[in-house]
Amino acid sequence: MRIAVVPGDGIGKEVIPATLPALTLLNEALGLGLSYEVFDWGADRWLGTGVGLPPGALDELARDYGAVFLGALGDPRIPDMAHGRDILLGLRRGLDLYVNHRPIELKHGVIDLYRENTQGLYAGVGGSVGRHGAATVAIDECVYTRETVEKFVRSCLTRLRAAGRRKVTLVHKSNAVPHTGRLWQQVFRHEAEAFPELEASEEYVDSFCYHLVRDPKPYEGVLAPNLFGDIISDIGAALMGGLGLASSASICPETGFALCEPVHGSAPDIAGKGTANPYAASMSLALLLDHAGHEDAGRLLRTCTADVARGEAATPDLGGTGTTRQFMAEVTALIERRLTTAGAAPRP
Ligand code: NAD
Ligand code: IPM
Ligand code: MN
Repeated sequence: MRIAVVPGDGIGKEVIPATLPALTLLNEALGLGLSYEVFDWGADRWLGTGVGLPPGALDELARDYGAVFLGALGDPRIPDMAHGRDILLGLRRGLDLYVNHRPIELKHGVIDLYRENTQGLYAGVGGSVGRHGAATVAIDECVYTRETVEKFVRSCLTRLRAAGRRKVTLVHKSNAVPHTGRLWQQVFRHEAEAFPELEASEEYVDSFCYHLVRDPKPYEGVLAPNLFGDIISDIGAALMGGLGLASSASICPETGFALCEPVHGSAPDIAGKGTANPYAASMSLALLLDHAGHEDAGRLLRTCTADVARGEAATPDLGGTGTTRQFMAEVTALIERRLTTAGAAPRP
């Protein structure tokens, strides 16, 4: 499988390259048959040439690649994030990556948060009118099709059941946003009937956020429309200990294509210092390996990353003294040691 690596902007250009030696080691030692190519999509190219997602890129990805490994987009020189929407939302929508898995790793266990990733308030439907560049009316429509909600809910329930989860919660806001809210409730109730193993419940998103912060333990699987899922994933990151820890995989279940990326952005406040936490990027790479069918490699990367995160080589946000590169160098060295102990010494 070929992987398109897109470091992007800011700390994306630090955390993604730092993880690649671990990918290369796993690939060679375990004979995974992966290869990758780095693409320069991001702010510099946008400012230099006006190109975000290059013409033909979606077709090329769908034809020749199985996954994208992305850092982050976002640059203070492009305050409206036009390039980010073009590239990131272009990939998510253009490749129909409608299932966005954002695991929330907590001490008691993992909450599998699933965010719908292509429609809702991100559908790109809307407009504004005004004078001299100042909007007097602005509209962003929340658009959901039954087809997308159905395939999203069905796919998430299937994944939760396969992962042995026992509970699933739909978050919505049908009291105030009734049209899409009711569509989600109808579809969720109907689809959940086919999954008796999963105890299904529904919660208003505001109350859900309150309960999640007060006590996350009761939650196992969570399904959320696009914008709610975006916000909940940052709350989840805060519960985990910081945005440097939250990973994600955006998937099209029909094609099997995956885009794996940390939940965090380009973090201009710490970019260039070499201290960004690569944990989220490394865990996103582990999700990519899982997704490519290499669960053993994914598990090894995941456990080594988690073990290094507890030590001195961890980055300052975790209380360590390590740099981005030192953190990942430790992870790679630990993988190598564990492979050697397991008798699968890296090939020359
Ligand atoms: P951000 O996630 O970049 O940063 C929020 C805070 O978390 C900052 O204080 C930052 O230093 C910290 N942080 C984030 N990642 C970290 C890491 N790996 N290690 C240590 N600390 C980390 O959010 P923001 O500042 O609101 O956004 C910056 C830019 O990124 C904006 O342009 C935004 O649109 C964009 N953005 C992009 C993505 C993406 O590409 N998927 C996601 C979120 C934000
Ligand atoms: C995320 C980000 C993106 C989103 C932005 C940068 C468009 O916040 O991946 O969480 O809203 O989906
Ligand atoms: Mn976000």
